[in-house]
Amino acid sequence: MEGTLPDHEDWRLRAVGTSGGDLGAMGSAAGGGKLPTAARERKLPDQREEHPGATLYITLIAAVAAIGGLLFGFDTGVIAGAMLFIVPDFHLGPAQQGLVVSAVTFGALFGALAAGTSSDTIGRRWTNIFAGLSFVAGAVFSAIAPNVDILIASRVLIGLAIGLTSVAAPMYIAELSPARSRGKLVSLFQLAITIGILVSYIVDRALAPEQAWRWMLGLAFIPGALLVLGMIPLPESPRWLLKAGAEKAAREALSLVRPLNEIEAELHEIREDLEHNQPAAWTELLMPGLRPALMVGVGLAVFQQVTGINTIIYYAPQIFQMAGLSSATIALAATIGIGVLNVLSTLIAIWLVDRVGRKPLLLIGLVGMTASLAVLGFAQRFAPAIGIDPHALAPITVGCIALYIVCFAFSLGPVVWLMISEIFPTRARARAAAVSTAANWMANFLVSLSFPVLLAAMGPSLSFLYAAMGVAAFIFIVGYVPETKGKSLEDISRQWRTATKGAVVGQ
Ligand code: BGC
Repeated sequence: MEGTLPDHEDWRLRAVGTSGGDLGAMGSAAGGGKLPTAARERKLPDQREEHPGATLYITLIAAVAAIGGLLFGFDTGVIAGAMLFIVPDFHLGPAQQGLVVSAVTFGALFGALAAGTSSDTIGRRWTNIFAGLSFVAGAVFSAIAPNVDILIASRVLIGLAIGLTSVAAPMYIAELSPARSRGKLVSLFQLAITIGILVSYIVDRALAPEQAWRWMLGLAFIPGALLVLGMIPLPESPRWLLKAGAEKAAREALSLVRPLNEIEAELHEIREDLEHNQPAAWTELLMPGLRPALMVGVGLAVFQQVTGINTIIYYAPQIFQMAGLSSATIALAATIGIGVLNVLSTLIAIWLVDRVGRKPLLLIGLVGMTASLAVLGFAQRFAPAIGIDPHALAPITVGCIALYIVCFAFSLGPVVWLMISEIFPTRARARAAAVSTAANWMANFLVSLSFPVLLAAMGPSLSFLYAAMGVAAFIFIVGYVPETKGKSLEDISRQWRTATKGAVVGQ
C-alpha cells in the first residue's frame, strides 16, 4: 500500500499548507519539518487545488444528512403550539402534559446512546437512514394517535430518531468532509436545526385557527421521507469503511468527495490512526488516552444547555408576555423574530468557523451571551430601584434576548455539534460522541424541567445563574478545549495521543 502513496512527505507538505501554524508544529514532529523550503514552496499551490465536482457533492451529502437537524428542530419546537389543542382534546392533566412534552427529550437520550453502538456496527449511513424511518413512523403515529398513550409512545419514537441523528449526522458529515471546510459543512446541521425550529413556529401559527394539531405533528413526515430517500444513494463514511476493513469501498467513497491526488494520502492517514487507536469499548472511554477528549466533549455538550438556550427556545412567548408584551399575538411575533435571528446568525458561524476557528467563536459568543443575561437580570431585578420606567422593560428584554440568541447561534449552537463530531479518534468516535450527546440531552431535560420551578423561586435573578454558567463555560474553553480548525480528524487524534501527561494540546 505504501507504494501507491504519492509520497508521504509530499502529503505532509499539503497538510502543512491547509492548516497553518498549528499543524505545522505537529508536522515537524512527524518528520515534515525536515523538508527543504524550496520543496515546500513548490508544493504549496497543490493543496489549494479545488475540485468543483467533489465540493458540490460533499455539500449535497452534508445537506441531505442535515435534514435530520431540520427534524430535530421541528419536532422539538412544534409541540408548544400543538399542546394548546392536544390538552383539551385528550383532557390532559399536568402530569400527562409533562409526559407528552418531555417524551422527546427522554427518547433522544436513549437514541443518542443507541447511536454509539449502531454507528459502529451497521455504519453511519444506515444509522441516519434508521433515524429517518423512525422520524416517519413517529410523525404518522402521532398524527393519528387515538389516545394519549399512543401519542406519548410516538413522541418517544421521534425522540429516538432525534438522538440517533444528533450523533450520526454530524459525525457522518465530519468523516466525509475535507479538513479545510469541515467546520462549515458540519455547521449545516445546526443551520437545519434552527430552520426546523423556525418552521415549527410558523406551522403552529398557520394551523392554530383550525386547531389542526394532528397536521402540525404529521407534517414532519415529509422531511423524514426525504431524509430516508436522500440517504439511500449516498456513500458510507470512508473512515467507518476502513475501520470495518472494507478498503476498496473506502477508496471508492473517498474518490467521490476528494480530488484524485488526495485520496491515497488520506487513506494512509486514516489507516495509521486506526493502527494507533485500539477499538474502544464503552468502559475504555474513561481510560487516560480518551478521557481528556471525552471531558471536552461532555463539557461542551453540557455547557451548551446549562447556559439556558432552551429556556428561550421553549418558553419565549411566556417570557415576552411576562416582560410586558401583553398581547399574545405580539409575543408570538417576537418569538418568530427570535427564530429568524437564530437562523441568520448561524450563517455567521458557517462563514467564519473555518476562517477564524472554533475557539474564538465560542469565546466571543459566550461573552455576548453572558453580558446579555447579566443586563437582563439586572434590568428586571432592579428596574424600580434604579428608576427604569417599567414600560422600558419590554424593549430591554427583547433586546437582551435577541443579543443572546445571536451570540448563541454563531458559537455554542453550531460549534458544539461540530466539535463533538471531530475531537475523538475514529475508533472511539461513535461511542464518545454518543456519550457527549446523551449528556447534552440529559442537561437539556434538566434545564427545561427545572426552568418553571426555578423561575418561581428565584424570579429575574435566574438570569444570573445562567450567566454564571456562561463564565464557567468560558474558563473551561480557555483551559481545556483545543483548536481544531483546518486539521484532519487524524491530526486531531494524533494531537491527543502526543499530548504530554496532564496537558491539553492545541492551545
Ligand atoms: C441545541 C438545542 C437548541 C438549538 C437552538 C441546538 O444546538 O442543541 O438544544 O434548541 O440549538 O437553536
